[in-house]
Amino acid sequence: MDPRINPFSPGAGTAPPELAGREKIIEDVSIALHRIRSGNSAKSVLMVGLRGVGKTVLLNRLKNDAEAEGIVCVQFESPENRNLPAMLVPSLRAALLKLDRMAGAKDLVAKAVKVLGSFIAAAKVKYEGMEFGFDLGTEEGVADTGDLDYDLSELLQSVGEAAQEKKTAVVIFIDELQYVPETELAALISALHACAQKRLPVAMVGAGLPQLVGNVGRAKSYAERLFDLPVIGALPDQAATEALQRPVELHQVVFTEEAIKEILKQTQGYPYFLQEWGSMCWSVASTKVISKEDAVTATTLAILQLDTSFFRVRFDRCTPMEKNYLRAMAEINVLAPRSGDIAAAMKKEVNQLGPLRKSLISKGMIYSPAHGDTAFTVPLFADYMKRIIKLEI
Ligand SMILES: Nc1ncnc2c1ncn2[C@@H]1O[C@H](COP(=O)(O)OP(=O)(O)O)[C@@H](O)[C@H]1O
Ligand SMILES: [Mg+2]
Repeated sequence: MDPRINPFSPGAGTAPPELAGREKIIEDVSIALHRIRSGNSAKSVLMVGLRGVGKTVLLNRLKNDAEAEGIVCVQFESPENRNLPAMLVPSLRAALLKLDRMAGAKDLVAKAVKVLGSFIAAAKVKYEGMEFGFDLGTEEGVADTGDLDYDLSELLQSVGEAAQEKKTAVVIFIDELQYVPETELAALISALHACAQKRLPVAMVGAGLPQLVGNVGRAKSYAERLFDLPVIGALPDQAATEALQRPVELHQVVFTEEAIKEILKQTQGYPYFLQEWGSMCWSVASTKVISKEDAVTATTLAILQLDTSFFRVRFDRCTPMEKNYLRAMAEINVLAPRSGDIAAAMKKEVNQLGPLRKSLISKGMIYSPAHGDTAFTVPLFADYMKRIIKLEI
């Protein structure tokens, strides 16, 4: 069918035509943010899930919803190897500018701006990328000790007081949070903790790979009480069906039940794959009824497409040894193979492979769902590894 009006949108962070199956979390976060704004207790939210399940698009949606409710939102993605203070500063400055433009008293906003200035001056000594093209002044004796834990806590509290003065909340949306180094994550958690204890209207909505849960727990033992950690996963059958049918309905097109069955079987309900299969089905279908045969053809094309994009970009980031490790994991036909079995498959000792496993975890390729177990952070990656690296037996 006409590619110009193909409604599906495979891609990292590309908004889907139908954000299916996420009603509950959207409502839960809306409730939490409203409570935080009015000084009631509520937890910050960290969404965890594999690659391609829709964390980024959900984060965007939550931010848009919160903004529409008059909550001051700032958002950034944590890239690998960047420090948190350098990313937080411009975001918090943007939040303070937004607060400043709102009607009402301005004293506490003006103070928070200076506290941010003090924070920058002190953090500059330790952190790279803290040179900014603006001068905010300083607030003597606040957030200027050079100890990130302490300074960030004072800074966020000051931002919280400014938000309170304006009868709103400041919410920081952070994507790829698993890349934030543990000491910096610890400082952010204790700062949020301090705000929560004083019922100041500051919160975080974060998203990251499953390893985030462990990172957060190691950073601060009380973190699990401070955050809700909803798991974002594959869509159940009904939501997955809606993700496919709703977008085509608008064009008087329909998937047959058999076509849907084939797509659900192949994609296992993973959002990224649903978009890819939907898109391919649209391309190959010649009538307004998308049949099982269309879906089967789409499977071949979609896998080819994923192999050269979604899977490939992840694969290309690995060293040859890391690729061997991933290939060995794939060979053991279970979802989360044991370290011992992987080592045996590679004819190595478990402790020899420790550094390799660690580096794959920090790259976000694999995670440990339970002690000694290892799983891929990309759904269906094991099959891909088997396609791309054939073992000579
Ligand atoms: N709830 C959903 N229903 C349908 N498609 C979705 C849904 N969530 C995400 N998608 C699609 O899945 C793909 C991956 O989304 P993204 O937010 O980048 O995932 P993640 O951040 O978890 O890696 C995008 O093409 C997006 O349009
Ligand atoms: Mg993402």
